[in-house]
Amino acid sequence: MTSKRRLFVTTALPYANGPFHIGHIMEYIQADTWVRFQRMRGHEVHFVGADDAHGAPIMIAAEKAGVTPQRFVADIAAERPRYLDGFHIRFDNWHSTDAPENHQLAQDIYRALRRSGLIASREIEQFYDPVKGMFLPDRYIKGHCPKCDAADQYGDACEVCGAVYGPTELRRPYSVLSGATPEMRRSEHFFFQLSSARCAEFLRDWTQGAGAHGAPRLQPEVLNKVREWFATDADGHGGLADWDISRDAPYFGIEVPDAPGKYFYVWLDAPIGYLASLKNHFDKGQAAAHWHAQSRTTQSYEEFVADDAVEQVHFIGKDIVYFHTLFWPAMLHFSGRKTPSQVNVHGFVTVGGEKMSKSRGTGISPLKYLDLGLNPEWLRYYLAAKMSARVEDVDFTAEDFVARVNADLVGKYVNIASRAARFITQHFDGELRYLGTTEPLLGAARALADDVATALDGREYARALREIMAHADRINEAFDAAQPWVLAKDEARRAELHDACARALAGFWQLSVLLAPMLPATASRVARELFGLDRDFVWSDCSALPTRVAPYRHLMQRVDAKLLERLFEADAPTPTPTATAAPAPAPAAAAESPTISIDDFARIDLRVARIVDAAAVEGSTKLLRLTLDAGERNAATGEPRLRNVFSGIASAYAPAALVGRLTVMVANLAPRKMKFGVSEGMVLAASADDEKARAGIYLLDPHAGAEPGMRVR
Ligand code: MSP
Ligand code: ZN
Repeated sequence: MTSKRRLFVTTALPYANGPFHIGHIMEYIQADTWVRFQRMRGHEVHFVGADDAHGAPIMIAAEKAGVTPQRFVADIAAERPRYLDGFHIRFDNWHSTDAPENHQLAQDIYRALRRSGLIASREIEQFYDPVKGMFLPDRYIKGHCPKCDAADQYGDACEVCGAVYGPTELRRPYSVLSGATPEMRRSEHFFFQLSSARCAEFLRDWTQGAGAHGAPRLQPEVLNKVREWFATDADGHGGLADWDISRDAPYFGIEVPDAPGKYFYVWLDAPIGYLASLKNHFDKGQAAAHWHAQSRTTQSYEEFVADDAVEQVHFIGKDIVYFHTLFWPAMLHFSGRKTPSQVNVHGFVTVGGEKMSKSRGTGISPLKYLDLGLNPEWLRYYLAAKMSARVEDVDFTAEDFVARVNADLVGKYVNIASRAARFITQHFDGELRYLGTTEPLLGAARALADDVATALDGREYARALREIMAHADRINEAFDAAQPWVLAKDEARRAELHDACARALAGFWQLSVLLAPMLPATASRVARELFGLDRDFVWSDCSALPTRVAPYRHLMQRVDAKLLERLFEADAPTPTPTATAAPAPAPAAAAESPTISIDDFARIDLRVARIVDAAAVEGSTKLLRLTLDAGERNAATGEPRLRNVFSGIASAYAPAALVGRLTVMVANLAPRKMKFGVSEGMVLAASADDEKARAGIYLLDPHAGAEPGMRVR
């Protein structure tokens, strides 16, 4: 390794309005893996995060909870370590955008931007809630769609017809907060002049330019997206618009200097939180403590961020690219600061092919994962095995998880140690000895380590793991070919047995070094317990050979598929009282559901459908594949359109008994990709709340006279 890199690394700062979900954890695993790899290479890394505390949604959530916003975000922050420690995610510092450092830095940066002449003020018209006494963000205004008149649509777009519009175009608008009819009011706002020629010119260069070591700052697909944002038509329309950076009181945020009653929009101070957390880290003296061992001159925060050698690297998701590739570099540059070297964008985690959504209750809870006793390093390994440097979504499915962990991680990697170490303990008292030259062994290890290093540095984790596992295959094959169990029976062939086991364990040592960024706890145990090092592995250990091995102690279990199934099960909201208990208020189950409006109900398109075919689904004991006719026609061809629907009713109905019958279908349910195909709707059936105790599923059956396609309401 030539020169030591100096890295300042961040992940996006999560909104402090809820616990972490699996998407957050994926981002942290991606970044933490990269950071651990860079540290193993001997580079200097400062890896920081923080809670994104400000903004209207958090203010409103706190009000609902009956606490101050400060208290609200503190409670969320208190939960963070359980998740981070639980998944071995090791930030050097975790801070908050509401911390004093951030107030100071945000105001400093704003003042500098104002001095550069890039802040303008204008009056704008906006909806105001006269009952709440506040201006309403677009998301807090609903009304009827101006195009199709659907009720309960948000102020930006219609979920029914897809029309896009502004909040003022809504018909019969109302405030989501109070129900009041909002009024238009004027107010002065501050704008960052992104549309200025100076800004546009700077950003064009910056986005296309190179960061450290000549590497591009942005991934090619991200750059393409950014180019679209720059694009203007022949008349010069389009391009970057000025950015509204202020909000009126009441707002939970940072005050705009010299403008009473005005606050920074949350997205202005949020990325500044990266710097605030770094400053806090340096001021606490942690940064120096980490690195004085390498005899660096201890720098202050100010010196560090101004140092040209420092690379600033951000890990973010695909939804917040605009903020990080336009606003953020422009804010930094025009306030006289260094800009990021790399903005690394990842795709989203989907679960079983579905987008996660808190409101729909899909997605898997990271805490439940830990509480079930699932090994955090399985998840690190699994996600890494699916991650690349591209902006691709990563799908999490139970089958795939079990297969990768059990077949690769345990079956290929862990197995080597458990098999080879036993012979060494039994026959050679823990000593490793190699017959003949070990040069080819070390040469191969070095070449592999270089390839894997290139892949990890470039965030091509899937490729790195493919190479590592291919090497594990070769080690296993060589060990099997040597037939150690045959050699062990022959006194005369002890040296051969010794060599075969030593080479397998040298291979295991090397694999463990390469896997350490993904499996830090396992690799640490391998280094210390199995090979007797008094430290964790560093990258250069790849080209060293172990000389002793301790008796093998269990390193990692296989995944129990049953446990994983429980992770994917939706949790029952609250246990329902059982029938044997004292007389309970009659419809206990019904009482649990929150009230909805008639409009909410009307959004569900229920139709009578005929089951024209029903079949068992191979590989599933629960599902039947139904072909439904709801009287629809293909718009283009006029042909009757049939729907394919998977339904969990196999335990209750033989397929043949269903064909020809009518039932009720949810026609506007988003199609759902399942293991067996796409399900294009849902049929309605009744079952007891405690399905296990009182078995039985009963399909709904319309009275005679109903016809396919009729609406149920
Ligand atoms: N508070 C802003 C970020 C401010 S950065 C100065 C925010 N917070 S967030 O909590 O909504 O998202 C935090 C990060 O999680 C973002 O990078 C976002 O892209 C990422 N993810 C949110 N959902 C995700 C998935 N389903 N999958 C992967 N990452 C996801 O945005
Ligand atoms: Zn509409």
